[in-house]
Amino acid sequence: MISEKIRQEFPALQNNPGLVYLDNAATTLKPKCVIDAVRSYYEEFPANVGRGSHRLARKATEKYEDARATVAGFVGAKENELVFTRNATESINLAAVSLERMGHFNAGDEVLVSFLEHHANLLPWQQLCERTGTKLKVAKLNPDYTLDMGDLAKKVSRKTKIVAIAHASNTVASIQPVSEIAKICHDNGAFFLVDGAQSVPHMEVNVRRINADFYAFSGHKMLGPTGTGALYGKEDLLAKMPPYNYGGGMIRKVTVERTEFGDAPQKFEAGTPAIAEAIGFGEACSFLRKLGMQDVRNHEKQLTRHGLGKISSIKGVKVYCPADAEKQAGIVMFGIDGIDAVDVAAALDESGKIAVRSGMHCAEPIVGSINPHGLVRASFYIYNTAAEVDLLCSEIETISRAFGK
Ligand SMILES: Cc1ncc(COP(=O)(O)O)c(C=O)c1O
Repeated sequence: MISEKIRQEFPALQNNPGLVYLDNAATTLKPKCVIDAVRSYYEEFPANVGRGSHRLARKATEKYEDARATVAGFVGAKENELVFTRNATESINLAAVSLERMGHFNAGDEVLVSFLEHHANLLPWQQLCERTGTKLKVAKLNPDYTLDMGDLAKKVSRKTKIVAIAHASNTVASIQPVSEIAKICHDNGAFFLVDGAQSVPHMEVNVRRINADFYAFSGHKMLGPTGTGALYGKEDLLAKMPPYNYGGGMIRKVTVERTEFGDAPQKFEAGTPAIAEAIGFGEACSFLRKLGMQDVRNHEKQLTRHGLGKISSIKGVKVYCPADAEKQAGIVMFGIDGIDAVDVAAALDESGKIAVRSGMHCAEPIVGSINPHGLVRASFYIYNTAAEVDLLCSEIETISRAFGK
């Protein structure tokens, strides 16, 4: 059980009295321990990693690599299978570009995504297909916004080089059966990349149990600093894949004519990384691990169940996500008839200090197909309470009534 006492760990809640922060799918608030971990790097050992042999450099390297081990362990991976990136977007771009450089995609091949993907898991593949002559296929959704597995299975074949699917949607909230998808991919010789930006923060994830080939996620959506993300890749795959960026910190031997690259994960981390932020990311994983991901999931399910029931019964309001909290990841996506999503979000901020997201949510195909003017999203996390959800519901009702619903 997560108690309300946890709110004391979040300075942003103390510094913004009355704030109801329900924009967690965009980024989460940061607990004191994460802020302290970032500060301790700058105050105590602000040196570069992997290069110097002086004591500050050694300490920074040790803390950075400890953070890698913690983040890797959090998703059931080994340290050398976890590449630090700036965000999930960079993780997906890295996988796509590196596989392309490996010669994995040729004209006539296929890449499969789904209709609910965030732009971060659509645009890199669109661009790759344009460059390589590969065909982009799109799996459909069921009426309850879950993935149509029959359609997906039909669209995966020996031509499919990779399937890239969100474990949990950032808009319609549905959770996909990733282990089942992995099996379909591997039966057809395709790789499986999971976009875990909305799953790792909210539920227990074990990349090995899922049997994903790649798994991308963001640190800042799970209490970590901005500028943090990670890409898990199977050891043998990362070993074969060429680098994404080129420069310092990723080499074994360099002459003016040619370079021998180092091993994974360092060969994918050219240049000075976000050291303080990575250390903060590790701290965020430790904080969540102490809470227990089962409790995190249960807390969010309770809030979602409560919110979904109340919001969907308000006159003039429609909800666009699975009605069953079990099938979804702590998000209520909704619209009020005749009112622009941006105006709803502004009114919620004005009247109740409620922070929600409005618009296309970087997933224009799915959101635009529901409402070309966009939708409103309330997304929950560990510090949210049932009282906050009640306030959200009563403010939505007031807005809906004010507009004559
Ligand atoms: C499902 C999903 N994938 C990818 C991303 C991209 O994450 P980032 O902005 O950290 O790169 C997001 C961000 O909202 C997301 O929700």
